[in-house]
Amino acid sequence: MPRPVNPVSAAPKGPVLGIETSCDETAAAVVGRTASGAPVILSSVVLSQTEEHAAFGGVVPEIAARAHVEAVDGIVKAALTEAGTGLEGLAGIAATVGPGLVGGLIVGAMTGKALAAARKLPFFAINHLEGHALTPRLTDAVAYPYLVLLVSGGHTQILLVRGLGRYERWGTTIDDALGEAFDKTAKMLGLGHPGGPLVERAAASGDAGRFHLPRPMRGEKRLDFSFSGLKTAVRQAANAAAPLSDQDVADLCAGFQAAAADSVRDRIGRALERYRAELSDLADPVLAVAGGVAANGAIRAALNAACQGHGVRLVAPPLSLCGDNGAMIAHAGLERLEAGLFDGFEAPVRPRWPLDEQAAPMIGFGKRGAKA
Ligand code: KG4
Ligand code: ZN
Repeated sequence: MPRPVNPVSAAPKGPVLGIETSCDETAAAVVGRTASGAPVILSSVVLSQTEEHAAFGGVVPEIAARAHVEAVDGIVKAALTEAGTGLEGLAGIAATVGPGLVGGLIVGAMTGKALAAARKLPFFAINHLEGHALTPRLTDAVAYPYLVLLVSGGHTQILLVRGLGRYERWGTTIDDALGEAFDKTAKMLGLGHPGGPLVERAAASGDAGRFHLPRPMRGEKRLDFSFSGLKTAVRQAANAAAPLSDQDVADLCAGFQAAAADSVRDRIGRALERYRAELSDLADPVLAVAGGVAANGAIRAALNAACQGHGVRLVAPPLSLCGDNGAMIAHAGLERLEAGLFDGFEAPVRPRWPLDEQAAPMIGFGKRGAKA
């Protein structure tokens, strides 16, 4: 379904308020431009619901939706105050309308639409993945086109960003997302949630060579990922070594992380080969990384190594802008405002909304669907 778009010329310039409620962060931010045209984050407020969900070992949609309802007005107000503006100082309002958990999406979308209607401001219905994909332009003014690796709890995708609204998915996971694999490994080893940082910490004192784990998809021509077989291999190794000492857990974490990083290096290496061949005239070829797993040192090192081998610059935004936030949504809204791509208030929430509508759906893709 094409998104509803009303092109207008001579669009006014920002700032734009962005609202993000697609999973377990209630976030709002105001993003504008400096006199020279560089994007500037005037405020960014993120309230994480980690504690509300901790006891359940994952995000509970109903709890998330209720927490968003309670928090969103205060978070929007805080973002406006921090930016030193009221609604009258805005040029538009953007809200994530998908993909994500439907309850949270409705809360953010309705809040954004209501404020826009009350103030007669343009409204932007933002795809959360577009927010992540455009983040290197917000943080590092990266020019189109560029390649993005999005690695979060719900997505593992290689995207070619040709321009605003022009995304080609080159690869995705055929089963678990990378962050999901970290989280499941942590759960299996009794480390808690969210598991990525806990696995990384445990791995620091582990021997990555003790357990022999597979490097999924290594050498495959297609640019997709797979992590569920690796997770199963960790489970089998853990069962065989049980009862597990702290050192066993550390060694399993180190082995898992090294295997995941090797797999990412191989997949990205292939993607960069294609990128260099198909876009051979780029003056400054860039691979950007986004999503919570970008925080992982071993994954970053793997990406660095792949980029160095192909003469590509790695752009890794600060961690506060890798995970979910309102600034990336405000920034996507600002780009849409400047391009005259307005959405009507009839724009629906879309719990499933691939960025590249041409790309074939994957078996198991979006199975978990909560995080993006
Ligand atoms: O982007 P994000 O904050 O939320 C979405 O999924 O949209 O990503 C969260 C994911 C979780 O799966 C978490 O375990 C993972 O990112 N993560 C990490 C690290 N920090 C967060 N994974 C590996 N190493 C880390 N240091
Ligand atoms: Zn996300």
